[in-house]
Amino acid sequence: MSKRHTITAALPYTNGPIHIGHLAGVYVPADIYARYLRIKGEEVLFICGSDEHGVAISMKAKKDGITPKEVIDKYHNIIDKAFSDFGISFDYYGRTSSKVHHEAAQEFFKTIHEKDGFETQTTDQFYDAKEDQFLADRYVVGTCPKCSNPEAYGDQCESCGSSLNANDLIDPKSAISGETPSLKTTKHWYLPLDRYETFLRSWILEGHQNDWKPNVLGQVKSWLDDGLKPRAVTRDLSWGIPVPVDGGENKVLYVWFDAPIGYISATKEWAAKEGKDWAPYWKDENTELVHFIGKDNIVFHCIIFPAVLKAMGSYILPKNVPANEFLNLEGQKLSTSKNWAVWLHEYLEDFPNKQDVMRYVLTANAPETKDNDFTWHDFQTRNNSELVAIFGNFINRVMVLIKKYYESVVPEPNEYSPVDTETLKTLAATPLKIGKLIGQYKFRAACQEMMQLARLGNKYLADEEPWKLIKTNPERVATIMHTALQIAAGLAILSEPFLPHTAQKLREMLKLDKAVCWDSLKDGISVKSKHTLGEPDLLFEKIEDEEIAAQLEKLTA
Ligand code: MF3
Ligand code: ZN
Repeated sequence: MSKRHTITAALPYTNGPIHIGHLAGVYVPADIYARYLRIKGEEVLFICGSDEHGVAISMKAKKDGITPKEVIDKYHNIIDKAFSDFGISFDYYGRTSSKVHHEAAQEFFKTIHEKDGFETQTTDQFYDAKEDQFLADRYVVGTCPKCSNPEAYGDQCESCGSSLNANDLIDPKSAISGETPSLKTTKHWYLPLDRYETFLRSWILEGHQNDWKPNVLGQVKSWLDDGLKPRAVTRDLSWGIPVPVDGGENKVLYVWFDAPIGYISATKEWAAKEGKDWAPYWKDENTELVHFIGKDNIVFHCIIFPAVLKAMGSYILPKNVPANEFLNLEGQKLSTSKNWAVWLHEYLEDFPNKQDVMRYVLTANAPETKDNDFTWHDFQTRNNSELVAIFGNFINRVMVLIKKYYESVVPEPNEYSPVDTETLKTLAATPLKIGKLIGQYKFRAACQEMMQLARLGNKYLADEEPWKLIKTNPERVATIMHTALQIAAGLAILSEPFLPHTAQKLREMLKLDKAVCWDSLKDGISVKSKHTLGEPDLLFEKIEDEEIAAQLEKLTA
């Protein structure tokens, strides 16, 4: 029986375009998962959208001398396009500036407020008298108390990595006016996370100790062991969602309060468009909710958002939160501000139609269990010696030989040798193996398994050498080509979650019938004799040294 799945991918901030680190950590694994479940006939809702509030957006606007609205419109469009160009198959891509989202987030706040689910606290906060505004932590700069870096931010020192409070900074200054800020009293709403400690401990640390990733469990445990404190969910800012209760004037919801609700509001917008009910996707116990995120988002998805959902009552909790580690680039941390990144939209200008190559490299080298490094050299090697030399070469040989020997009509097999039988057996077992790995969020290993099948096909042809037998033993050649073609068909199906554009092209080349699918592969023979294939065409192209050199140059330019 098919199951309902709500799959979310972290909403990217629209303060800049997205790069390969985002793709590797969140969107490619989420897409592989969603595509696989759809192929298996499951009911899938794959949701994402733009995260358009928060200080990151208003700071970018200030820096560029434009309005926050102009910033979010610009990057929302760039990001949305990059996702669809790379084949990230969201069912809906929303934005947190939408009316539906503002209403949904305010409704959450009001509901929890009415249930007495918040506490209020009045504290002294930095205030810039010249600009007449409270300063969010990011807007206060000063000297780091830990390492003396003179340019630490009020929330974090980027030099030593310490996370800070604005009050910790030595000689604090307003990042907006440069003036020394004063302290001013202000009231805020807090989510009392301490009330959820017991629930979180038993739900995650006891209930999911065997099926959640160790890196996720480790972070959750360390937060819980430190003891949870009430967390402010409102801010003295102008850019954001207005706080919808008395006393909330001139205040907005904390961006991390509203953003995850974006998954739900996007679901509502999608459901309205499709004429469906949104509620089962978030409230039915039989729905499997999975959040794909990067490791810097763990606390928000495993502690704060679940506490919010729990406070609301009637919402389901995630079945898993398979967070990834980070991807580095040529040995250094990816950095938007230092422009140390490979931007998706720029990559496609230099390598048009090579989305699948990047998807493949990022999956083969995914930062699943530890931080990993992307290098252009590795990119070239994986393309030239895996995609071109193994996958592409195998398919091309099958297509060209069947065209040459049989005018593209699939021959009748004769007697099977033990190698043929063994090969077909491996092919029949592969879908289950890949599916199992995907179900365990082991996308890297799943992708290797798919490539292993291409390797097997390549080796089969190299060992059986049909080109040497075509004159002397045409019966044997017919069996070999018939068998090789089954592997080619298998690759067209099994590569779909990883290389969707290639899979589509291959399917068309092989003129595969709709009935040939993931589950039919276990029968061994997918393509019967007398079936006519399409024209051979190359799936991958070699990438030259000069192209790689140009990319390296671009990085350091
Ligand atoms: N914008 C955040 C980031 O880039 C992710 C938000 S995920 C959501 O780190 F849950 F809040 F939506
Ligand atoms: Zn420091």
